[in-house]
Amino acid sequence: MIVVFGSINMDLVARVRSIARPGETVLSRQADSFFGGKGANQAVASARISRGGPVTVAMIGAVGDDAFGTACLDNLRENGVDAGAVRIADEPTGCAFITVDEAGENAITVASGANMGLRAGDVLADFLSEAQALVLQMEVPVTESLEVARQAKRNGVPVIWNFAPVPTDLRQADIADLLSATDFLIVNEHESVSAAAIAGEQVGDDYLEAAALLARTYGPTCIVTAGARGAIAIGPDGSRVHASAPPITPVDTTGAGDTFVGVFANGFAEGLEIGKALQRACLAASQACLTAGAQAGMPTRDSLEVS
Ligand code: RIB
Repeated sequence: MIVVFGSINMDLVARVRSIARPGETVLSRQADSFFGGKGANQAVASARISRGGPVTVAMIGAVGDDAFGTACLDNLRENGVDAGAVRIADEPTGCAFITVDEAGENAITVASGANMGLRAGDVLADFLSEAQALVLQMEVPVTESLEVARQAKRNGVPVIWNFAPVPTDLRQADIADLLSATDFLIVNEHESVSAAAIAGEQVGDDYLEAAALLARTYGPTCIVTAGARGAIAIGPDGSRVHASAPPITPVDTTGAGDTFVGVFANGFAEGLEIGKALQRACLAASQACLTAGAQAGMPTRDSLEVS
C-alpha cells in the first residue's frame, strides 16, 4: 500500500492569453472546476496506475463539510483511492485559484482551508505498518508531515517527499530534519535550488549541484524533474540515473509534477529499479499535460501500456 498524507483541493481554473502581473486584470472566457490538491493528485495518479497491479493507495487528508468536500471524496473513491481516513474538518475544503496561459503554464494561489487542520494523529497505526511507501508534499502543516515521516521511518517505511510548493517560512533546522527523514526527495529545478538555500548551502542556481549536495549531506536520493528534459536521480554517493521525456505540446502542465510523484511511488512500491520507475513517471507526466485539469489527463495502467 502507498499512503499519501497531504492536501485535497478543488481547483477553479481560468484560461488566459497571459497570466496577470501584479496590479493587472486579464479576462478569461469562463472558469472550470477540476479536482486537485497535490496530495489528492498524487494519490489519484498512483491509483490509476495501480489499478490492475499489485499495489493499493490510501489517502490521509481533510476536507470541509461542504459540496466541494463531498465531490473530492467521491472523486478519490471513483479513482480507486481508499479515502476512509480522510477527515471532515470544521474549515472549508481547500480551493486553488489557477490561471493557465496559452503555453500551458500556470500560476496558482491556494486557499488551504481544511488542509491546515490535518494532523499526524489522523494516520491510522495500521497504515504505517502495512505501507510500502509514504508520500508527502508541502501543502499541509510541515510539522505534522515531519511527525508522520518519523513514524514511517520507525516502521521501516520509505518516505517519498515532494518539496512543493516551497514554503516561505521553513527554518534551516526543520529542512535538515525533513531531508534526514526522507528516502526520495522529489523537486523541480527551482525547488532544488530553494531547498539548498533554505538549508543554508551556497550553490548559486545550478539545480543539479544543489540536488547532489542535498543528497550527499542529508542522505536522500534527490530526484529532479526538468520538464521536457526528463528527470534525473542523484544518490548520496553521487550516482546519477537519467530518464528522458517524450516530446509533447502541452495543453495544461497543472498536476504534471504530481503525476510524476504518484507514478514514481507506484513503480518504487512495485519494486522497479529506479531508472524504470523514473521512465514510467516521465511518460505519465507528459501524458497528463495533454488534457486540461490536474487529474483529467493522468494515464491508467492500460494507456501507459504497463503490464
Ligand atoms: O500541483 C498542482 C496542484 O497544486 C493543483 O491541483 C492545486 O490544487 C495546487 O495544490
